[in-house]
Amino acid sequence: FGPVTIDGRSRDIARQLVEQNKDAVIFWGSQSGTSEGLAHRLGRDCAARFGLNVLIADLSDYEPATIAQIPNTKFAIFIVSTYGEGDPSDNTCDFLSWLQNQQDPLQDLRYAAFGLGNSNYVYYNKVVNDVVRCLETLGAKPLLPVGMADDASSGTEEDFASWRDDLFAMFHKVLGLQEQAPQYIPTLRVTEGEDANDPLPLLGEPRPLKLSKKAQRDYSAVNQLPLKETKVVTRSNTNTRSCLHLEVDIRAHPQIKYKTGDHLAVWPTNAAEEVQRIIAVLGLQQKQHKTIVVASTDSQEDVKVPRMSTIYALFQHHLEISAPVSRDTAIALSRLAPTEITKSFLQSLSNKTAYSAFIARNHVTFARLLEHSILQDPTASWSHLPLAFVIDSLRPVQPRYYSISSSSMTSPRQMAITVAVSPSELPENPAVTISGLTTSYLSTLDKHAGSRLWSHVRRSTFKLPFLHKTPIILVAAGTGIAPFRGFLQERAHMTQISNQEIGQILLVFGCRKPDEDYLYKEEIEALQNGPLKGRLEVVTAFSRVVGQPKVYVQDRLAEPRLKDQVVKLLCHEDASLYFCGSTTMAKTAGRTLVDAVQEYQKGSEADGKAWVDGMKRSRRWQEDVWG
Ligand code: 2AM
Repeated sequence: FGPVTIDGRSRDIARQLVEQNKDAVIFWGSQSGTSEGLAHRLGRDCAARFGLNVLIADLSDYEPATIAQIPNTKFAIFIVSTYGEGDPSDNTCDFLSWLQNQQDPLQDLRYAAFGLGNSNYVYYNKVVNDVVRCLETLGAKPLLPVGMADDASSGTEEDFASWRDDLFAMFHKVLGLQEQAPQYIPTLRVTEGEDANDPLPLLGEPRPLKLSKKAQRDYSAVNQLPLKETKVVTRSNTNTRSCLHLEVDIRAHPQIKYKTGDHLAVWPTNAAEEVQRIIAVLGLQQKQHKTIVVASTDSQEDVKVPRMSTIYALFQHHLEISAPVSRDTAIALSRLAPTEITKSFLQSLSNKTAYSAFIARNHVTFARLLEHSILQDPTASWSHLPLAFVIDSLRPVQPRYYSISSSSMTSPRQMAITVAVSPSELPENPAVTISGLTTSYLSTLDKHAGSRLWSHVRRSTFKLPFLHKTPIILVAAGTGIAPFRGFLQERAHMTQISNQEIGQILLVFGCRKPDEDYLYKEEIEALQNGPLKGRLEVVTAFSRVVGQPKVYVQDRLAEPRLKDQVVKLLCHEDASLYFCGSTTMAKTAGRTLVDAVQEYQKGSEADGKAWVDGMKRSRRWQEDVWG
């Protein structure tokens, strides 16, 4: 494993805990920052409610074997996420493979574990289950049953809150810890002025990503890339949904390379209106452009925002001020409320049902929640709220990933992305619609000529078959068409320019209405009538044509003619199968295809599963899915 120290700190977790006089360590394994955020929040709560001194640790920062030496007077908490096909985050890989190959006992280790996952995926919470199974086999002592969050049902926040209640009950009952009146203990120190150690404040440039060795190979550096073209490719006449096509110019960046099927990460910027809103409600107008330095009160911990920036830049670029706030934040705010009325208003939201009802009716962000409290008591002012608390409560901005919709073969120095803009209505108040942060940011860009996007390329494994002769079945819904546009361009290029023989292409595409959101319709038809003539078949499924039944891609795939054709392609012609779009679409359409193959092969459920596993192992079944 890595060096003995990281940034000058020891990689020996047991030694760190003893030397720093910590009671426990909370390890996080996270890609998008959610587990990391929960780990920090849990650390703060452990301190505020039980006076515990906890170290928050990136799993990849420590030598895995040193967990064996953690004394049994201390304990470890693991908060780890599961991605896609049961994959761990980059920073969990080394730890997990060490644990799975570990022979020596861990009988001194006391631990608790919480997993983040999504039950729409087959390998739901596999990572935390693997961690717990290995720890138990090695004799480590669980302090309470493993907790799991399901993003697809009750939601990560609420599942975490209820596991945390169990954890705290265990602190009291098993560890004999006394709960104290909660108090706010700052974990950050915010000072005005410059820091001689930092040459320049960051005013929008994302902080360098902390990547494992494996991930470093898959990510290009973050750059400010110029936009070459933005256009609206579909617009609904009846609602606010639309779809954008953006092209990013990489001619000036020869070191950036992409391949058809890769992803473009976009770092969003909060809307000026939202930045002004939070600055105003916190009374920070006078100071908004002053340079500030944000440091951790614990010298061992990194801060999640740039050390040196300005209040305005922090809110505009580095913190998720446009995101919904958790009930926990409302509770924490109630303790710091400026007046009795604002306090009791926020306390009234501490109950789970009350909070759910409130957010179903109101657009609630951090600043908007404070504004709601002021509506209850117009004399109240939040200008005394410590800025450290605000920064602590907000998540750092993460990039959003989009499937690249151009082919690197036909458009090597210009990358396209296809972005659906579909504001969502509040469940109990449809008059209020909320736009996604990145999509609304991108929608404003066409109005600013010469815009540049902070972005980077992430390599993906979603790739065309090695042999151009291999037939392909492409199943897409909505903007899931994006990578397939690149695939079609690439195959057209193969036959047209390189004169190579290409395999049959079956594209099954679903959208709402043929005249509303059939993305790239003209382009696809031109390919069908041109270079891909006789090679490309397109099957459509329209879900909202007035007067007609709703049809999804899986309904089309279940039709006898298409079913036979697909079975023939898969079972006799070695076709490769691709899904792109929502997870539920891929799950249902995939199930339809497995049923068809199973029926044809007169096989059992187990045979069907073995077939899928074989297809995935040989990379003949690939998915690029979300949500
Ligand atoms: P909708 O009319 O129900 O929204 C792109 O969003 C297309 O995918 C739309 O036609 C949408 O239908 C459809 N879609 C939504 N959920 C789906 C699912 N679970 N399976 C397949 N298609 C789906």
